[in-house]
Amino acid sequence: MSAPVTARVAAKVNLQLAVGGLRPDGFHDLATVFLAVDLHDEVTATPADTLRLTAEGPEADQIPLDGDNLAARAATLLAERHGVAPLVHLHIDKAIPVAGGMAGGSADAAAALVACDALWGTGADRAELLELSAELGSDVPFSLVGGAAIGRSRGEDLTPVPVGADLHFVFAVADAGLSTPAVFRECDRLRAESGGGVTTLEVPDPEPSPRLLAALADGDVTALAAALAGANDLQPAAVSLRPALAATLDAGTGAGALAALVSGSGPTTAFLAADAGHAERIAAALRGSGTCRAAHVARGPVAGATRVARR
Ligand code: C5P
Repeated sequence: MSAPVTARVAAKVNLQLAVGGLRPDGFHDLATVFLAVDLHDEVTATPADTLRLTAEGPEADQIPLDGDNLAARAATLLAERHGVAPLVHLHIDKAIPVAGGMAGGSADAAAALVACDALWGTGADRAELLELSAELGSDVPFSLVGGAAIGRSRGEDLTPVPVGADLHFVFAVADAGLSTPAVFRECDRLRAESGGGVTTLEVPDPEPSPRLLAALADGDVTALAAALAGANDLQPAAVSLRPALAATLDAGTGAGALAALVSGSGPTTAFLAADAGHAERIAAALRGSGTCRAAHVARGPVAGATRVARR
């Protein structure tokens, strides 16, 4: 019997999320700037008689534990590729908000790939893990590599970018999750309603913001704060589906956050702070505001999915 293997994986926030047109395959072209932040899940793979999943953490009851779980699909895909049976118990220790716009499910899939590859000795190299990740979901490749990167196409086509300083954030967790496809659909609906186009033929190609990338490279939080304003094209859609998010954004701004944004497709909201102490003060104010279920401080960039020593 092989010893259990644990992989640790970070959440992400999209500092920019420029959404292009709807493609014939149902995805949208993106130009996004991902940052991995130190809110971590851990996935432990243990040999078992059948593929099974368990989960722990404050939101564990909201995690689907069937074959649809992205971590289970990751294990199945890796096993199929290497002609091994996916006889593994995956235990997810979850700190990343569920359905929160922080790629929690994608993170668990990336961690499951790393953990199962080590458990089974399948020896997949980086290129294969990246290819399997892209098959599993648009955010899974970034969960694997971490750091900071531009994501193009569906988000899976990555180019690492430099970050000149540790960045401090607060993440406010909402009472219930939002479905990513529903938020993209709402983005299209709002575009159509305002007389704009929806498809790739009508919407200009999304581009990464040079101003945001320069602020990131310089580690200039003031310039970054300015560049974050309006940088998430999914924010109006998330707020449209969950109007209460406007109060959370206002509460963080009122508490002195340098910038307030919806994280990815939401409903988690992200607040940029000047330093770690500032982040703690904003988090305390958000917890007391009654506009969110929890508030966590987190810094980035941090590494992607990594095997950790046995528990
Ligand atoms: O790739 P992933 O499975 O995470 O995507 C979930 C859903 O989010 C897609 O089925 C699609 O509806 C939407 N999506 C999109 N454009 C992207 C990424 C995701 O429309 N670039």
